[in-house]
Amino acid sequence: MSAGDRHPRPESAARAALAPARPAPLGVRIAGTGSAVPDRRMTNADFEKILDTNDEWIRQRTGIRERRRVDTEKGESTRTLCVDALRRALDEARTDGADLDLVIVATVTGEMLCPSVACRVAAEVGAAGAGAFDVTAACSGFVYAMNIAYELMRGGTYRCVGVIGCDTMSTIIDYKDRGVSILFGDAAGAAVLRPTDDLSKGLLAQAMHADGSGWKDLYLPRAARDFPEGVEADPAKYCKLQMNGREVFKFAVRTFGEVIQQTLDQVGLQPDDVDHYVCHQSNARILEASRERFGVPEEKLYVNIDRYGNSSAGSVPLCFDELRKAGRIKDGDVVMLVAFGGGLTWASSLWRV
Ligand code: UT7
Repeated sequence: MSAGDRHPRPESAARAALAPARPAPLGVRIAGTGSAVPDRRMTNADFEKILDTNDEWIRQRTGIRERRRVDTEKGESTRTLCVDALRRALDEARTDGADLDLVIVATVTGEMLCPSVACRVAAEVGAAGAGAFDVTAACSGFVYAMNIAYELMRGGTYRCVGVIGCDTMSTIIDYKDRGVSILFGDAAGAAVLRPTDDLSKGLLAQAMHADGSGWKDLYLPRAARDFPEGVEADPAKYCKLQMNGREVFKFAVRTFGEVIQQTLDQVGLQPDDVDHYVCHQSNARILEASRERFGVPEEKLYVNIDRYGNSSAGSVPLCFDELRKAGRIKDGDVVMLVAFGGGLTWASSLWRV
C-alpha cells in the first residue's frame, strides 16, 4: 500500500463514492398473475359466413376452433384488457397499484403511440407516478418485457413491477383476408414481480433477438412508403396486418428450436430439466414441430390456441396464467417462456418460480 493510499485525497474519496454500486444478489418471484379476454367469441363457423374458408381447413392448418374479439363499441380495447389483467395479477399478489413502481406493457395494438398504453394503465390501477413504458416486439413482446423487468429489478431500483402482454389483433386485421384473419384473437396477461430473499428464484437465462431484414414477412403499413419493394402500395391495407404466412412458419420452426437450445446451453440444462414450456401460441403445427424436436412430453407444453387463436403479445402470459390457475406450476418449477414474431423478433426467458 502506498502512502497516497493510506491518506486518500478528498477528491479521490469523492470519486470512490461515485463508483457504480455492484447490485446485491437478488431473487425475483412472480407474486401474482392475471389475464383477461373479451367475452365475444368468433368461431370458425363465423368465418365460414364471411369468407371462402371452412372449419376443417382452419383446424387442420392452425389448430384453432375459436378466438376472442373486443367489442370496441362497448369501449373494450388493449388498454381495458391490460387494466383487467393487471388488477387480477395485483389481487393474486395481495397488493394494489399503489405498490407498483414500474409498469411495462408489451403491445403493438395500443390506441395511440403517445401516450404509451402503460402510462394510462398505470394511472387506472392507482400507480400514477410509477415509471411506465411500452415495449414493441410484436408476439415476442411479453418475453422481452419480462427480461427487461428482471434486469431493472436486479439493479435494486424497482421493487414491484407489473409486466403486461396484450394485443387486440382484431383491431388491425382485414376480415376479408382469409390467410391472416382466421389466425388471430385478442387477449391480455400480466405478472407482478417482487424481490425475494430466496436467491434460487428468478431469471436463470434469457435471449432476445431480432432480424429486421425479415420485416416484410409481418408488418403493419401506415403509408405508401411502408410497403416492401415489389408490393403495390394500397391504402385499403393501411393499418391492416400484412403477413407472409409460409415464410413466418419456416422462421418460427427454426428459431423456436434454436432459442430454446441457446437458453438451455447458457445454464447447462437439458430439455428435460424444464417443467413447463410456455410458448407463443402461433399455430398448433409450429408448437407440435418444436415439441417433437426436443422430445418434450405433451404435458410439458401448454396449448390453448384452440380456444384463443394467436393473441400476439397476449399469448404467453395468458398461457402462463392459465397454467398457474390450474395449479400446474409448483414452487421451484423451471419455466421456459418462448416467443417469436414481427420484426422479425424472437426471445426466451427461463425462470425458476
Ligand atoms: O405469431 C406470429 C405470426 N404468424 C404466424 O405464426 C403464422 C405462421 N404461419 C401460419 O400459421 C400458416 O402459414 C397459415 C395458417 C397462416 C397458413 O397455412 P399454410 O399451410 O402455410 O397455408 P398457405 O398459406 O401455404 O396456403 C395454402 C392454401 C392456399 O391455396 P392454394 O394457393 O394452394 O390454392 C391458400 O390460398 O390454402 C389457402 N388458404 C385458405 N384456404 C381456406 C389460405 N388461407 C385459407 C383459409 N381457408 N383461411
